[in-house]
Amino acid sequence: MRVVTTIALALSFFICEMGKAQDITWYKHIAPIIHHNCTPCHRTGEAAPFSLLTYDDVAKRASMIQRVTEARYMPPWKPDPHYVQYANERRLSAADIAMIANWTAHDMPKGNATDAREEDLQFVTGTRYNRKPDIVLQMKNSYHLEGDNKDHYIVYKIPFELADSMNVEGIEFITNNRKVIHHANYEIDDVPGLDLYNTVDYIDHETETTKYFENFVPYRSRIRYFGGWIPGASMESYPKHIGWVMPKRGVILLTLHYAPLGKAEDVISGVQIWTTTSNITRQIKNENLGSGSDSQKDIQPFFYLPPDVVRTFTLNVKTGEDKSLLYVWPHMHMLGKVFKAYAIKPNKDTIPLVHIPAWDFNWQEIYWFPKMLKIPKGSTIHIECTYDNTINNPYNPNLPPALVMENMNTNNEMMTLVMVTLPYQDGDENISLEK
Ligand code: HEC
Repeated sequence: MRVVTTIALALSFFICEMGKAQDITWYKHIAPIIHHNCTPCHRTGEAAPFSLLTYDDVAKRASMIQRVTEARYMPPWKPDPHYVQYANERRLSAADIAMIANWTAHDMPKGNATDAREEDLQFVTGTRYNRKPDIVLQMKNSYHLEGDNKDHYIVYKIPFELADSMNVEGIEFITNNRKVIHHANYEIDDVPGLDLYNTVDYIDHETETTKYFENFVPYRSRIRYFGGWIPGASMESYPKHIGWVMPKRGVILLTLHYAPLGKAEDVISGVQIWTTTSNITRQIKNENLGSGSDSQKDIQPFFYLPPDVVRTFTLNVKTGEDKSLLYVWPHMHMLGKVFKAYAIKPNKDTIPLVHIPAWDFNWQEIYWFPKMLKIPKGSTIHIECTYDNTINNPYNPNLPPALVMENMNTNNEMMTLVMVTLPYQDGDENISLEK
């Protein structure tokens, strides 16, 4: 705190030199900071408990905002900014934090409306993207979850029949009840021949695993897209001519993992899609490394966590072709402490991919590189994760600590890196992923 205050003082002095401190106004200085870093979550329909959009929204909470920004509790941004800077970075500079403090100390001047920047207010209700979706596909009925304090894995079938196949520019998971969902996975299957409706609407993994095979497996011979959502995460979109093709007819198989609940809740979920008329010449691929993939068995040492240990695991996976990397998506559960991944090129240079020095299960993200990142053929993707299964870990779901195995349950652990990739083409390093 002392350091932050010193910086704040130094900066406020600096700002005074440029003009009077009370010249810091909502329209000119504060609104752009809030709209870029806070409003994406703090608005109607998003994860945060109140809106931070208008002057009134922000001014009436100014001292609380000062406190959470000085403590760097908000905006939640977990990657080490010195390791990799991502296109979707939400992080305040020391100058931004000082500016908020200064504005608060001077009774939140509103300033001149002519200083407002229109582009800062281009929020579209119901999405993180810049326009309304072209297709929304949701569960037909809402699902009633019992408050039985158990994990639930349910696979929902969402059949669809469109006028034609469509080129996809972006996709986003949607739900009316974010707080009950631990994570979502979904695949989009092209199903030209089979009946889409005469199978069950959903399968509860706990009670009906055998029926999965006869009901849903036949749909899965042409998987066109595989994606997911975790708490805190934003949407996925692609540069021009890159993406995938939404088939004309098929099903979405949406797996929702619900965290244990103490009271009943109703949930309706699905996906929304943005289509484009430009053709898709390059199809993206989601590659899974570690838990839940072929490379799970290569994690060293064998992945499990006895009670009362802090342990680090590594995984090395070789790449067989030149690739371009668009996004990375690290995933662990409650015992996770540190997540680090980098590529080692054949010449031994390293390419940093992601470093989360203080893992926080509640704030996971899909991290976007500013430009496509080339991973040359023969590189090794190195992943290194530390877990704390002791009583010192305040998020430990077991008290006293218990044996934890590798499993999708919240109370067990995972070590996974999802990478969204393309086969490399000349010039990819120059393609920007900024939205
Ligand atoms: C990734 C989404 C996200 C972003 C970005 C974000 N917030 Fe939040 N914020 C939340 C959620 C969710 C909560 C409620 C849960 C919590 O307090 O952890 C919250 C809570 C808060 C609170 C209440 C804290 C408390 O102790 O009750 C304040 C104040 C706040 N945010 C301010 C901000 C400000 C200011 C910014 C930008 C500088 C910001 N937030 C950016 C999601 C976000």
